[in-house]
Formats: sequence, structure tokens, C-alpha cells
Amino acid sequence: MITIIYILLIMDLSFAAISTSAFCECSEFQTSIECAQQQNCKWSTSCMDKICSDFIEESECDRASDCAWNDTQKKCAQFTSCSNYKVKQASSCQLKDATCIAEDANPDGSYICQIGKIICSQISDQKLCNSGLYQSQYETCTYSSSSCQSMDISKCSTITEQFLCTSLKCSWSVTNLKCLEGTCSSYSSPDMCSYVSAESIGTKILCTWLDNSCVEASDVLALTSSNCYINTGGSYAWIYGKCKECQSTKFGVIVALNAIFSVLLAFML
Ligand SMILES: *[C@@H]1O[C@H](CO)[C@@H](O)[C@H](O)[C@H]1NC(C)=O
Repeated sequence: MITIIYILLIMDLSFAAISTSAFCECSEFQTSIECAQQQNCKWSTSCMDKICSDFIEESECDRASDCAWNDTQKKCAQFTSCSNYKVKQASSCQLKDATCIAEDANPDGSYICQIGKIICSQISDQKLCNSGLYQSQYETCTYSSSSCQSMDISKCSTITEQFLCTSLKCSWSVTNLKCLEGTCSSYSSPDMCSYVSAESIGTKILCTWLDNSCVEASDVLALTSSNCYINTGGSYAWIYGKCKECQSTKFGVIVALNAIFSVLLAFML
């Protein structure tokens, strides 16, 4: 009996939550289903990166790195240069390429893009400030206290907005209106119980549903070929019949936001 308790104690001590910073690349997917779940991948005998002309929607095209929608040809092509693009909304220039910003509005309300850098504090328009502009790879613009400010979104604790906080899988504290690292136990249904963000965005902690509650996972044995990728936020894939961590780690906050977007999309399909 004592031995058994001792073994149980040891097992308990050796429990380790899984934290991962992996981010699967197209070439790591072995099934067409998982390949299709990642927006920038396509399947033809194996999973590979889409090229610009594979994107048939303007927003998908603009979000893909190095690609931008060509309005005259009505198709997605390699990004050329900022000044070649005319857009309807000032915030769209940065979507064409991270190096582009909008010039002043034309008489018809459109904008020509030019090379430039977003400085949140120089933006006076509230709507433009809140349109998802980035000041750097880790800072987005957000309007608060009657001015446009940059917000560090590389960590849960520096996020000051509930929507962004929960979208990035951190947890929003209702009592002190603060964003904290995610906790599995904040999910009360098995559908939601997948993974949460560690304090450092881009690092995920995997969760699993056990005894009617969402707890940190110590393995991925419960995941199947159909939820391995989605429930790990794009860090694991179904490889040789098992849910396995991907090799690649190419990650940034913008990638994180895009991954969330594509995972959400995959859910809706
Ligand atoms: C769109 O394609 C046309 C024809 O190839 C080209 O002349 C034009 O510069 C392109 N536009 C942009 C924004 O790159």
C-alpha cells in the first residue's frame, strides 16, 4: 500500500504540462484535411505552400506575405511597390505590405499607398487607429484615453483589451480588468477546452477535458486525426498515425493572429 502511494506521488510529481512554440509548416502535413485547414497551404499529392495566384480572395491574398491583390487584373499577384496600390480604406495599405501606409485621401475618397511606417501616436482618427494597424511586429495600435496608442501584444500581461486578450487565448480577469496568461480551467465546455496562451504569446499550453473539467494536458493521446491540428492551435499535426509536435517554430504575433483567424475559419467550414 505504501509503495502504491509512493508511486502515485512520484507520478504526480512527474506530471508536466505541455507547452509548445511549434508552428506547423505546409510541408509537415501528411493529410489533405489538415493541409486544407491552414490557409496558406494547398494539397496536390503532398501539402505545399500556396503561391500568390492560388489565392482567389482579396483579403486572403493581402494577408499572405509577399502577395497583394492586383485590382486591374482582379487577381492575386506578387507585391510590387507601395505606390502602385490604390485602396478604399487607409488601413488597407499596410495589408498590401508591412512597408506601406496611406497618403492623404483623394477627392474620391480613395487612398494611394506610399512607403512609410505606422506610428500609432500620430494617428488622430479613432476608427483608423482601431482598424488593426501594426506599429511593429509586436505592437498594434489601439485607441484609449482619447488618443491612439501602441499596445505590446507579445505578452498577455501587456494587452489592455478584452477582445484581443481572449482572441489570443489569454484570460481576461473581470475583477481587475487585466489580461493574464491563459488558464485551461477558464473553459467550462469540452468544445472550448483545447489550448491556452502562456504569458509569452506564441507559446501555448495544451488543455484536455477530464472528469468534467478543463485541465492542463500531460499528453496528446486524446487527440485524433481530425482535431490534432485545430486543438493545438496549429502546433501539432497528424504524422504517421499520431498527433505529433511540428518541427517548425517560425512564429510572430502577426502569425499568431493569422493562425487564429485560419483556425476560426477551419472551424466554420
Ligand atoms: C497589376 O498588373 C498590371 C498588368 O500586369 C501591372 O501593370 C500593374 O502594375 C499591376 N498593379 C500592381 C498594383 O502591381
